[in-house]
Amino acid sequence: MAPLHASDTVAVVGAGTMGTGIAQIAAAAGHPVLLYDHWPDAVDRSLTALEKTLERVVARGKMTPEERLALLARITPCGELAALKTARLVVEAIVESLEIKRKLFADVEKLVDDEAVLATNTSSISITAIASGLQRPERLVGMHFFNPVPLMALVEIISGVATEPRVADMAYERAAAWGKSPVYARSTPGFIVNRVARPFYAEALRVLQEGAAEPETLDALMRDAGGFRMGPFELMDLIGHDVNFAVTRSVFEAHYYDPRFTPSLIQQELVEAGFLGRKSGRGFFRYDEAERPQPQTASDVDAPSSIVAHGDLGPLAPLVELLASKGIDVGRASHETGGGWIELDGRVAVAMTDGRSATERMATELKKPLVLVDLARDLAQATRIGLTPADQTTESERDLAVGLFQLLDKAVSVIADVPGMLVMRTVCMLANEAADAVNQGVCDTESVDTAMRKGVNYPQGPMEWARRIGLGYVVGVLSNLATGYGEDRYRVSPLLRRLLFAEAGPR
Ligand SMILES: NC(=O)c1ccc[n+]([C@@H]2O[C@H](COP(=O)([O-])OP(=O)(O)OC[C@H]3O[C@@H](n4cnc5c(N)ncnc54)[C@H](O)[C@@H]3O)[C@@H](O)[C@H]2O)c1
Repeated sequence: MAPLHASDTVAVVGAGTMGTGIAQIAAAAGHPVLLYDHWPDAVDRSLTALEKTLERVVARGKMTPEERLALLARITPCGELAALKTARLVVEAIVESLEIKRKLFADVEKLVDDEAVLATNTSSISITAIASGLQRPERLVGMHFFNPVPLMALVEIISGVATEPRVADMAYERAAAWGKSPVYARSTPGFIVNRVARPFYAEALRVLQEGAAEPETLDALMRDAGGFRMGPFELMDLIGHDVNFAVTRSVFEAHYYDPRFTPSLIQQELVEAGFLGRKSGRGFFRYDEAERPQPQTASDVDAPSSIVAHGDLGPLAPLVELLASKGIDVGRASHETGGGWIELDGRVAVAMTDGRSATERMATELKKPLVLVDLARDLAQATRIGLTPADQTTESERDLAVGLFQLLDKAVSVIADVPGMLVMRTVCMLANEAADAVNQGVCDTESVDTAMRKGVNYPQGPMEWARRIGLGYVVGVLSNLATGYGEDRYRVSPLLRRLLFAEAGPR
């Protein structure tokens, strides 16, 4: 199979949202592009939309008027499928139906040259199943672009059982030539991103169901402490609950009802109510009212006068450095065995959440008033921090912990005592899912991190993030969640355990 060059013709089938974007980037890279849709008006609409998009690109100074015209001139509208005959690469972006996609590829296969590569942009259907029945299933590959195509860097290059490696390589090389960041993946339910992202929504929904806080507060913690661009609830509202719930259900069903992927009853209720998010005017939030509810933020309280660190603080260690950098005195307890908390005014302990509730830890471990802290991606950068007091803690004891973080100019949100709080359990479960995907041969570690950074804009790849927190700490959080809930959902990925032992064991 000869390599593909910019002068080779690319066909795009389906001139909707995705097809229009794919045609744009292929033409921008210099390919002659054939654009076909079975509904003729779709191609006209697509080209009119593209003309307007490119006008804006020119107005922003990112393209000259001549480049715009040249790009548009490289796209040929086609009224008949037969016109795609000369294409070396056919990218399909039609309706998400196995039957219809299979029929289309069977027709395309008869038209094009034996050397042509067939690619599908399906977001959820098995590549193996789409290819099955073709005369040459080995030349079909998934090229999963993300919306909006011209802006999103990730392309998942997905091989089915029959896909030949050189076909996947060609798709990879084309995506890279079009300025994208491709990653290889094996065809499994949800591929990489739609699978590994499930806990981002699932843990937030679970914490909401357990009454930890309102959606606006949980969103603010994920943004301002976790460093995510959007909170899970506003993102689900944007995606649409019908779409997001359907993806979760399909991943759950396709994994033979693995409890890890159990859909949320709260989201099911929203779908049943027709509260689909932005598009219907109401989801978790209302879009007909000018004012969005504000996150719950603790009011100003007095700072503690004595701060003493006990033992190894683990992921909370940067707090001591941060306090020191602000000229705030932190004492060190001597002769310490164990530890892992900060004592305020000799009255209350503050520790990082480890997947157990504050109430349990106060009763069984610390035996003193306790307030837990949620994970922040970067404590210095975080503008908000989540705290949870044990049930046995008094308000004035809790306020000492609030005052500690207010000393560092952080907004503080006090949430109810759910194990693992929000950011910590979400990040640990993202890493757990990423590790499982790698462990099951879906992709490699680097690809899962790239996919989550470039496909859904996570501030850090989940595997990288787990290493930064400490693999031992992450495994501890997950094990505590698994014990506390007694649910298989939180079982630790065998790969996380293996990586941990590889780090710890003798060489
Ligand atoms: N929209 C997204 O965010 C997104 C992201 C990644 C992947 N995808 C996948 O991309 C594909 C297209 O999605 P979209 O959002 O662009 O859909 P869309 O509805 O905007 O466009 C689909 C187009 O395909 C045409 N079409 C349908 N059946 C056809 C056929 N048999 N032959 C030729 N044309 C046909 C329709 O007329 C329509 O113009 C789907 O498989 C979808 O799952 C979508």
